[in-house]
Amino acid sequence: MQAGSNPDQPILVLKDVAIGYDSSDPLVKVPDLHVFPGEIIAIAGPSGIGKSTLLRTIAGLVSPISGTLKVCGRTLPENPPRGHLGYVPQKLGLVRHASVRHNVYQGARAGTNIRKERQDRSIRAIEEMKLTEKSREPIRRLSGGQQRRVATARTLAQRPRLILADEFLSELDEETLSSVLEAVTNYVRENNASLIVVEHDITRAKMMADRLLIIDDGRMNPFIEGTQALEVNP
Ligand SMILES: Nc1ncnc2c1ncn2[C@@H]1O[C@H](COP(=O)(O)OP(=O)(O)O)[C@@H](O)[C@H]1O
Ligand SMILES: [Mg+2]
Repeated sequence: MQAGSNPDQPILVLKDVAIGYDSSDPLVKVPDLHVFPGEIIAIAGPSGIGKSTLLRTIAGLVSPISGTLKVCGRTLPENPPRGHLGYVPQKLGLVRHASVRHNVYQGARAGTNIRKERQDRSIRAIEEMKLTEKSREPIRRLSGGQQRRVATARTLAQRPRLILADEFLSELDEETLSSVLEAVTNYVRENNASLIVVEHDITRAKMMADRLLIIDDGRMNPFIEGTQALEVNP
């Protein structure tokens, strides 16, 4: 199935959500967030504030302390429909002894049961991430930036409706960065998918996002258009 869904239905809803690991001391509170198909949302904020924890919570890997999360039409703890949610974690979770091709194929497997389609998607995603020459190499022989591109290719091969990407542009040189960014944003726009990206570099975050969410001391930064503050450490 293509990524596009009903543009009137939010792909993600957070309502009065508190996240963190200690229920008496939440890291971040999100009063209200709606993300619609076709939107690119960037989340910025200082190190250690809870950006990755927020993505892990949306991905269903950490339970919210309180509140309601609706992901791809399903309310947690119910899982989103198979293949709809793609996640590029900060710690990439690649199979290090296996090849680029094998790792990317795992994403395609999550997205479709059709064998030929899995192969086609994998080849295309590897091309888009400029990794064709590396496709038989084991992950452990790749640089940090190349490994990050493998994790991005794995998610593109899945063709999800919602992509959660955690610092997926870090360790990339300028040239690779622009081609990776272009491939991912094209995917989102062409398929009416949504992208939520954690990006510590504010300039980059503004460059790619329709909306920028700052997690800081809970106040809105008045200089950034469309900014919506997330309440932190209340
Ligand atoms: N599994 C965990 N259990 C308990 N605390 C954690 C866990 N993972 C991260 N933390 C803590 O939660 C805070 C936020 O971490 P994180 O979400 O990774 O921040 P960011 O991505 O904004 O740098 C940090 O203080 C971190 O040490
Ligand atoms: Mg992080």
